[in-house]
Amino acid sequence: MLSSRIVAPGAADDARASQGMQGAAAGEFGSDMARALSSSPRSISPKYFYDARGSQLFDRICELPEYYPTRTELDILRIHAGEIASRVGPSAEIVEFGAGSCAKVRLLLDAMDRPARYLPIDISGDHLAASAAELRMQYPALDVQPVVADYTRRLLLPAQLRDAGQRVGFFPGSTIGNFTPQEALHFLEVTGQVLRGGALLLGADLVKDPAVLHAAYNDGEGVTADFNLNLLARANRELGANFVLDQFAHSAFYNAPLRRIEMHLVSRCRQQVTLAGRSHAFEEGETLHTENSYKFTVDGLREMAVRAGFRPGPVWTDPQRMFSLHWLHAPH
Ligand code: AVJ
Repeated sequence: MLSSRIVAPGAADDARASQGMQGAAAGEFGSDMARALSSSPRSISPKYFYDARGSQLFDRICELPEYYPTRTELDILRIHAGEIASRVGPSAEIVEFGAGSCAKVRLLLDAMDRPARYLPIDISGDHLAASAAELRMQYPALDVQPVVADYTRRLLLPAQLRDAGQRVGFFPGSTIGNFTPQEALHFLEVTGQVLRGGALLLGADLVKDPAVLHAAYNDGEGVTADFNLNLLARANRELGANFVLDQFAHSAFYNAPLRRIEMHLVSRCRQQVTLAGRSHAFEEGETLHTENSYKFTVDGLREMAVRAGFRPGPVWTDPQRMFSLHWLHAPH
């Protein structure tokens, strides 16, 4: 999971953060996959879903009728853009964690008073360069500075601009739900330092009817299944593994006591998989745990933010209270 992935910062991480980490990230997939296959129970970070194919599949997930989070968050942003922008204030700097598509930040930028700078942070340099180029064209006055880094680790950002407004973090999509509660708290603590004196605009999916949650991760077209299985296809492509894709099944269910969707790849039979010259046995029904997606209550999220040193401000939700957008004042 992003879970076991927050590691103590070290010189190597700093070098990677400043030089780009394409090569390092590729090597990391190999070692993490090898470690996942060798451990019991088996689990791997969901960050490896997002190669080019996985990012495409995720974009399709966001359009699915069952997958309500993206559409609901966009509606919340659209409806409250004016109020959010006045919180952000003039000449502000937006730091986005995991800049996927630019649709969400565009809503924010369009409502803002002279946005000064946009710092999208993403692990995928190619993806980031493409979306940065697009934004520069559309916002000629905006200073767009992509940061290729793994934001689950310690982060070094360029110093704040002189005469700029406040620095506002933007972490939409409920990606915070990929962290364990402990990691989410740690992420917020570190982020509070990066955003010192500013604020964080945080999207969080809410606890709701398990049937609605279940459907969102078990769509009728099987796009989420393809997204999950693409992890194995990626391991075959990039690492020379020999997963037989139709011998694994997509499984996603709501673990109510832990308030999280779990995604797994379930072995449909007894089989062997080879990676880097090592053979790994799967029993029928054995799984590779590929993702946790935690769901929150509004109060629970605010309490966690307080523990991380933030002061909670307004919360915006949709009328059905499916999704929440939180304004959190960073520590001084
Ligand atoms: C990007 C982590 C928010 O958990 O809903 C979508 C990823 N996984 N369908 C989520 C995802 C399966 C998504 N996040």
